[in-house]
Formats: sequence, C-alpha cells, structure tokens
Amino acid sequence: MSPIGPATVPSSYSGEFKPHFHVFDSRETLGQACANCIIEEIQKNKQVVLGLATGSTPLPVYKALVKAFNRGGLDLSEVTTFNLDEYVGLDPRDKQSYHYYMKEKLFKNLMWSEDNPLGIKTENIHIPNGQATKFQHLSFEEQNALKKQFPLRGDESTLSSLESNWIICRRAEAYDRLINQCGPIDIQILGIGENGHLAFCEPGSSHEGRTSLVELTANTRAVNGRFFHDRNVPTQAISMGIGTILQARKIYLLATGERKQEILKKTLYGKVCEEIPATALKKHSEVIFFLDIEANPDKRKL
Ligand code: F6R
Repeated sequence: MSPIGPATVPSSYSGEFKPHFHVFDSRETLGQACANCIIEEIQKNKQVVLGLATGSTPLPVYKALVKAFNRGGLDLSEVTTFNLDEYVGLDPRDKQSYHYYMKEKLFKNLMWSEDNPLGIKTENIHIPNGQATKFQHLSFEEQNALKKQFPLRGDESTLSSLESNWIICRRAEAYDRLINQCGPIDIQILGIGENGHLAFCEPGSSHEGRTSLVELTANTRAVNGRFFHDRNVPTQAISMGIGTILQARKIYLLATGERKQEILKKTLYGKVCEEIPATALKKHSEVIFFLDIEANPDKRKL
C-alpha cells in the first residue's frame, strides 16, 4: 500500500486550524496507511516514541504493524511506547484491562528476545498501572510512601479508597514525568469517544490537564460496557491529560464508523471548548485525521 496522499481540508471547513485529512474505503486500508506512516517514522528514527491507544479503532493499525514486523527488517528494539490510559482496579491479567489488550493485540507478537533481536523491549513499554486495591499490589517504594502519608494505617491488606486514590495520583504524576524524560512523544495515536473524549479525558476536562486519576462518565461506562458483559465497568481510570497529549509532535486521530460522524462534525466545525475535549486538537499544529467513509463528516471522499 502506497503512503497516504496529499493533505486535504474539507471544503466546508474554515478556520485557523489546518489539519490533514485522509479518508479510506475500509478500516483495513486505513490501518495499513496509518501503520505505514508509523513504520516510515521508525525507519527515519529508530528511537521513536509512540503514544498508543486501545479500543476498537486502532486494531487494524496494530494488525498491519504485526504483519510488517513478521515480514522482517523492521527494527523496534529502540522504540519506546506510552499508552494513554488504564482502568483503575483491574489486574493487568484481566481480559478487560488495557494491559491485556495491548499484550494480545500488539506486544506479544513483537517482543524482543535473543531469537527476536529486532523486537520491542519490555522496559520500553509503558502502560499506566491502575491496580491498587491491595497493599501487595504496590511496589516497595509505594508501600513506604503510603505508610508515611497514612501513619495511622494498620496492617490491613485492602486499601481504602482514599489510600488507593492517593497511590493512583502519585503514579499518574510519575507517568507524566517519565513521558517528559523520554519524550516528547513523536506520534500519538488517538481514538475519539462518542462524547468527544480523548483518552479518558471526559467532557469538562481542562485542556492543560496532565496524567491523572479520572472519573468515568455514565456515557463512557455504558459504551464500554459492551466489553464487560455481566460485570460492572470500573468507575475510574488513570489517563494522560489533554495537556500531555498536546505535547506530542504529531497526532493521528483515528475514527471509523457512522457513530463517530456527529462528534467529528462538532469537533471540526464547532468552537474550542472543554465540553468537547477533542476540540483541544485545534490548538495543535500537526494533527492528521485518518477516517473511513462512514465517519467522514463531509460524507464524501476527500
Ligand atoms: C483508548 C481510549 C479511548 C478510545 C475511545 C474510542 O485508549 O483512550 O479514548 O480511543 O473511547 O474507542 P473505540 O475505538 O473503541 O471507539
């Protein structure tokens, strides 16, 4: 598949923001084109830092990346990745956790080993850690910090919600610091929620926000309920902030399916506001939209 074509802007769009749009006939061609852009970047700079998303939308991208890696010659050994978010309270082995998703959909196929020296190294993979319901979930440093912060706590293993929130907040701050140390992120992949959320930055989130503990809205929990079957969807997540996301050099916003068309319209044609987190992208100078025909708010191939 050839690299994506020249940038175009929907005819009805007018404004300062100059995004690039690429519309594809299918999710597969979108995935392949987006993967090609990532691969091109890795070939230019082996130490690229990638920001990764979960959800349904990026799956064809990950599939295309795995295919390219299996063909041989793609060197990921110096690539660093940062995921956007993770639910609070889930074990990383839980099938609904984003740790599990990333392992299954991408990393298990790309891991570095002596037999696979071009693979990605475990220490270069970063996914926020949302597991903090028990004392034994915490690292040694976290256990000490917790005891210092809550000197009256006894030996009980279960963390109170106050304690758990405190730990998640400290982890969020540390995650943000690590992005600053290793970053900036060269390419940030994003999906978009039907309510305009980016990562788990829900409507009302500050556009300057950093990685933090967030409460999930009823809308997001209902939409994501499709993956949880008869279990409750967690109520909190640890998520990069919009301010963190906007620090990336380039942003690839991916959207597929008709259900994303309305929010894309609002994002592109409405004014920048906190009620629609995705409108913050208008403050960034290099956003590329990868859309399929159904999501395209202009309803025609650009
Ligand atoms: C995923 C994430 C979310 C999703 C969004 C769209 O890491 O942060 O913001 O990108 O909810 O999800 P899908 O792709 O399933 O429609």
